[in-house]
This record gives sequence, C-alpha cells and structure tokens, in this order.
Amino acid sequence: MSAPKEAWSSRLGVILAVAGSAVGLGNFLRFPGLAAQYGGGAFMIAYFISLLLIGIPICWTEWTLGRYGGRQGYHSTSGIFHALMKKPWAKYLGVIGFVVPVIIYMYYVYIEAWALGYAVNALVGNLSMEGKDYGAFFGKFTGASSDGVALRFGLRDVGIFVLIVYVLNFFFIYRGISKGIEMVCKYAMPALIFIAIIILARVMTLGTPDPMKPDQNVVNGLAYMWNPGDVAAGLKNPQLWLAAAGQIFFSLSVGFGVIITYASYLRGKDDVVLSGLTATSANEFCEVGLGGLITVPAAFMFLGTAGIVGQGTFGLGFNVLPQVFALMPAGHLFASIFFVLLFIAAVTSSLSMLQPGIAFLEEGLGIERKASVALLGLMTAFGTLFIWYFSKDLKALDTLDFWVGTVMLFVQATILVIIFGWGLGIPRGWEIAHEGAEMRIPNIFKPIIKYITPMYLITIFVMFLLQNVFGWNYSLTDPIFEPTGYTKDLIGDEPNNVARLSVGFIIIVTGFALVFVNIAGKRWTKNPPVPLND
Ligand code: PFF
Repeated sequence: MSAPKEAWSSRLGVILAVAGSAVGLGNFLRFPGLAAQYGGGAFMIAYFISLLLIGIPICWTEWTLGRYGGRQGYHSTSGIFHALMKKPWAKYLGVIGFVVPVIIYMYYVYIEAWALGYAVNALVGNLSMEGKDYGAFFGKFTGASSDGVALRFGLRDVGIFVLIVYVLNFFFIYRGISKGIEMVCKYAMPALIFIAIIILARVMTLGTPDPMKPDQNVVNGLAYMWNPGDVAAGLKNPQLWLAAAGQIFFSLSVGFGVIITYASYLRGKDDVVLSGLTATSANEFCEVGLGGLITVPAAFMFLGTAGIVGQGTFGLGFNVLPQVFALMPAGHLFASIFFVLLFIAAVTSSLSMLQPGIAFLEEGLGIERKASVALLGLMTAFGTLFIWYFSKDLKALDTLDFWVGTVMLFVQATILVIIFGWGLGIPRGWEIAHEGAEMRIPNIFKPIIKYITPMYLITIFVMFLLQNVFGWNYSLTDPIFEPTGYTKDLIGDEPNNVARLSVGFIIIVTGFALVFVNIAGKRWTKNPPVPLND
C-alpha cells in the first residue's frame, strides 16, 4: 500500500516552486558580492560557462531522475537511486541528498530571520544604534560580535524572528506540496519580482546623489559592477572559476537534492525539459537582471568603492546597504522593503530545503507527515540553536557552509551527473527526459553531460580542495602546501573548538542519515512503494 500521492496542481506551480527555491539570498547578496569582488567581466564569463556546463545539464538531470523516481513511488534521493539502479549500495549514494539540504536549512533559516528582523527594525529606525554605528547593530543582532549574545528576544534581537520563521516554514511544509509550497510560491514569486523592480527603479533614478562627489553616479555604479576590466588576468585566477561554479550551484539550487525531490511530484508525462529551462531562466533574470543591478551600484553611488571592497556577502547586505538606504529620501521605507524582498526570497528557498528531508523520513521510515515534520523540526532546531549560540564571527555558520554547502555539494552533484550519464546511460536518459517534453535538448548536451560536465566538476573540485583544504600556492616549480583557515581550524596548533564541533555535528547527522538509509532499504525491499500508472 502506498501513501496517498501528493502532486503539484499545475505546471506553472512547479515552475514557480523550483524558481522559488532558486531565487533567494544568493541572487540579491551572494551574486553581486562575488561579481564585484572578482571584477564584473571576467567573473561573468566564468559564470556563464558554468551555467552552460554545470547548471543547465545538472538541472535537466535532476528533473529527469526526479520524475522517473516519482513514477516508481519514490521522492527522496536515496529512494530514487535505489529505484533506478536496483543495487544495494545505490541508496547510500543518495544520503547526501538528505544531509546537504537539511544542514543548509539550519543556517539559511537563521539568515532568513535576520532579513525579517532587519525589515522590522529598518522601518522603526533601529538599525543605527546610538548614532551611526550599523556594524554594532549587525554584530549584536546576528551574534557575530560574541557567542551567546544573539540568544535574546527583544525587538532588536534575532530571537523572535527565528521563532517566527521556524513556525512559518514548518506550517507551510506541513500543508504539503500543493497547498503549502506551491501556494506560497504562487504569491511570493510575483510579489518578489514586483518589489525588486520598485527598488531597482529607485536605485536607477538616483542620478548623482551627492553633488560634491560627481563620480559617484548611477552610470559609474553600473560600470563598477559590469565593466569588463582585465578579463585575461581575471580568468587566470583559479579562485574566480571556483567562485563562479559555486555560485551557479548555489543560485540555481542544483546538485542539492532539492530539484530531484520537487520533480518527483510531477505526473508521469509532465514536461521536464522546458520547465527546467524556464525555472533556470527565471533565476537568471532575477540574479543578473535584478540582483546585479541593485546592491553594488547603490553601495557605490553613496559610499564609493570603500563601501564595497572587502565587505563580503553579509557585510554588503546587512551592514553597507542600511547605511546606503539611510542616505536616500524615505530611506527607512526602502530599506524595509528591501529586507522584505530578501525575506520573501529566502522563505521560498528554505521551504525547498525541508522537502527532501520530509520525503525521506516519510518514505524511509514509513512515518506519517505529522511525525516526519516533527522529527525534522526537532533535528533542524537543534542545529539552528547551535549556529545561533556559537555565533561569534559566524564561525559555526561559515564552517557548515564550507564543508556541507560546498564540499559535500560538489560530491553530490558529481554523483548525480555520473548516475545519469553512465549509470542510466545517455540514450536511455535522453528517452526518459523527452517523454512529454515540449522541447528537445540540443544534441550537443549529450557529450557535455557524459564527459564534459563530470570532468569540469572534478577539475574544479580538485582545484578547490587543493586551494581551500590543502592550501596549495598553485606553483608547479615551487609548490607550497599550507593549511588554510578551514583546515587550520580543525588540525592546526590552535584549533577552533566551534569549527571542530561543527564538523563533529556534520559527522553525527551523516551517521544518523546512514542508519536511516539502512532502515529504509529494508523497508523498500520488503514493501516497495506502488508505482504510478499514468
Ligand atoms: N538558491 C538559493 C539562493 O540563491 O539563495 C539557495 C538554495 C536554495 C540553495 C535551496 C540550496 C537549496 F537547496
């Protein structure tokens, strides 16, 4: 007996849900921050190459595998790999599809709470505490200034906002695929684009805000972000390629195990090729067309390059932008609207990180939705509490983001594309992808998916490990390997306990997940779900 089948109620609904997952903090904070840091032109070249060689191919792979697994009655990455490969070890390959979204949720939702808290505090004019010090507000609100300070519940503390976002996320996820996620995204996505366009119009019409500084005008703001600069030199920097590829993953939500789960709730012959491409395009519009035109140009116009260089993603969004808005007419209002935008974008993304966990607990342990929501709520709350308490320098958050949000993610994405290109095989994969498809995937993507994407991924991943884990200086003649920040934290002379605890936490969650997969495997062999027959 299979559980009652859940499904998307419309084609537009699923596209909006996937686009909702993709459009998030990554579009409005992470992307502009990286593009400005690496110099617009060169970064954009690496970014678009990564979009073509990683983003779009893996997106199609995930949509196809997901719909295929859904037809066999499975919705989690483990279940789908099990159904596809029919080998006892296959389900274990899917474990990262549970661990990655669940752990990323734990910290992503914390930042979501900042966005909500900033929206409220901007409106009442609380962001500049005692005069002009925005950094002090940020430090205390997020807890970046010291451990434990953020665990408070006043209006100027993050506490209430964490509770609100938790209740919201779990309320909607409990309502299910069509009544929860799809319903939220149907309203949230148009609202988000509408708000972004208002803010964009405001920023683009600022002209030269300070006549004393004629260089800081809108044209130079855009030029700062978009002028190509020294493209050749930029492209020689391996770090730029890593950043561009990482941004493509993060922004499109591909490789996380999220899209595969979403696609598993499609009906048997629903199109995946055009839908996948549409969701991807929607994300790129919001990222390049909206996110890329707001944050950095605005910061430049008011604060010049000093406001941007070395600020990092969070600094730019939560520290610099409030100062920028404060200098605009009706600044409180615009600041608040901007953070509402971030908040809406984040909710549709965090919901998508919960569904793989819910699906896995339901079908793996054979428990009802209520129980799986409660169990996942408990697990993630524990993680968020950990990040919230050990907040100094955002150490726990940053460590989890590195090991899970980047290292594990690369592994998972590589597994996905290899399972499609080599496990399933391109001819069969192509056939499945095109069932009910409203457009054909150009044939050039056959060799791309089979050879180029995995090679590109593995090359970038090896470079990434060499640089960020082993600390290679890229010299062939005089190579030096020095522990980097992340490895030093774990094994250096002065290890960081929070970083160590964070890695311990990842290991424990993965351990639990492996036990769950083992239990699930027994269930699936004894009592497989009933395949759909449409
Ligand atoms: N794509 C989201 C963003 O750009 O903010 C982040 C994200 C959502 C990553 C969902 C992973 C995920 F599973």
